[in-house]
Amino acid sequence: MNYERNILITGGAGFIGSHVVKLFVRKYPQYRIINLDKLTYAGNLTNLADIENSQNYVFEKADICDHAKVCEIFEKYSIDGLIHLAAESHVDRSIKDPLSFAQTNVIGTLSLLQAAKEKWLEKEGKERKGEYMFYHISTDEVYGSLSTSSGYFTEDTKYDPHSPYSASKASSDHFVRAFHDTYGLPTIISNCSNNYGPYQFPEKLIPLFINNIRIGKHLPVYGKGENVRDWLFVEDHARAIDLIFHKGKVGETYNIGGFNEWRNIDLVKLLVRTVDRLLGKPEGHSENLITFGKDRAGHDLRYAIDSTKLKRELGWTPSLRFEEGIEKTVRWYLENQTWLDSVTSGEYEKYYQKMYKETSAKI
Ligand code: NAD
Ligand code: TYD
Repeated sequence: MNYERNILITGGAGFIGSHVVKLFVRKYPQYRIINLDKLTYAGNLTNLADIENSQNYVFEKADICDHAKVCEIFEKYSIDGLIHLAAESHVDRSIKDPLSFAQTNVIGTLSLLQAAKEKWLEKEGKERKGEYMFYHISTDEVYGSLSTSSGYFTEDTKYDPHSPYSASKASSDHFVRAFHDTYGLPTIISNCSNNYGPYQFPEKLIPLFINNIRIGKHLPVYGKGENVRDWLFVEDHARAIDLIFHKGKVGETYNIGGFNEWRNIDLVKLLVRTVDRLLGKPEGHSENLITFGKDRAGHDLRYAIDSTKLKRELGWTPSLRFEEGIEKTVRWYLENQTWLDSVTSGEYEKYYQKMYKETSAKI
């Protein structure tokens, strides 16, 4: 079959990537979607079970840092668009192992940029047809930290990363802009606030705490729980990515966020109330699981995204109120305990090794 476009999505077996892959595979049967993922601890092919047999979907197990392999994939599928999500994404892990964050997030991004430059820009006139796009998915954490109650991150906020994770993402953003400015590579960057929803690896606050409340384990709130995060439902992020990929202006940056700030402690109490209610436990039953401990090193106080530009220029707004999104998310984790148990037990690693052999055999 002749596809209109061949779009490479990196990190498509992860949390946000799997939502983006599913959206694109279903919504655009005229596109071939190639999911490139190394399947680290955070990558899980069961997240894609609904679409794994679709005609227009292909999986490639590869490391974005393996430049020769990345170039081979660009050539093999005539890639003409890329949505780059693959990354090491957890701040606590970055504090323990900053080198692997620099490797994947910086060198890996550079390896993809270099492949796109070689394969797209070095093609001669008539060979270079179609809309090429290198779309880099980044985070609001590159902007640093805000004071408790005032100010927002806009697209013009100066970069000021504090954790090895945000420093590695900031560095990758700089390389993306450098390839646009130096070589004319058609790039776009978006910086999104904290995501939540189904299929998030239970090391991040929301799925970790839902699971801990479910099994009666303690809820380790860092510091006094006064840090503020701006939360967005993952499917709203995926819709924004779709819109920006198709309608965004080359060379631009878009902030994505829902103006939805929560102090960690208030969010944790909301999770406790919601899980207890859905499990039929009396109100306040699991509140005694909350513990206050040592703070995270370099813990950013507050993130808050101003996404006015995305609304004004492309008409994007979030679809869900936070309470609805949390209810939907808690229900999903409670109804998918097998998924939760498998990703916390390591069972899924065996599963995806088998799946990988089957999916790659189909190409
Ligand atoms: P995730 O950790 O759930 O998934 C990352 C995926 O990348 C996994 O499937 C993993 O196997 C893959 N991967 C890791 N290293 C790789 C490598 N070297 N080669 C190929 N694949 C590799 O992450 P996520 O939360 O879905 O985040 C996706 C992207 O969105 C990241 O770039 C992250 O910085 C960005 N982001 C995340 C959030 C959030 O709240 N989760 C918010 C804003 C931006
Ligand atoms: P996290 O989900 O790790 O996202 P990020 O660090 O990228 O914002 O953490 C969200 C907030 O919750 C952050 O302020 C750290 C805090 N937190 C805890 O208090 N306890 C925990 O066990 C975790 C994982 C996070």
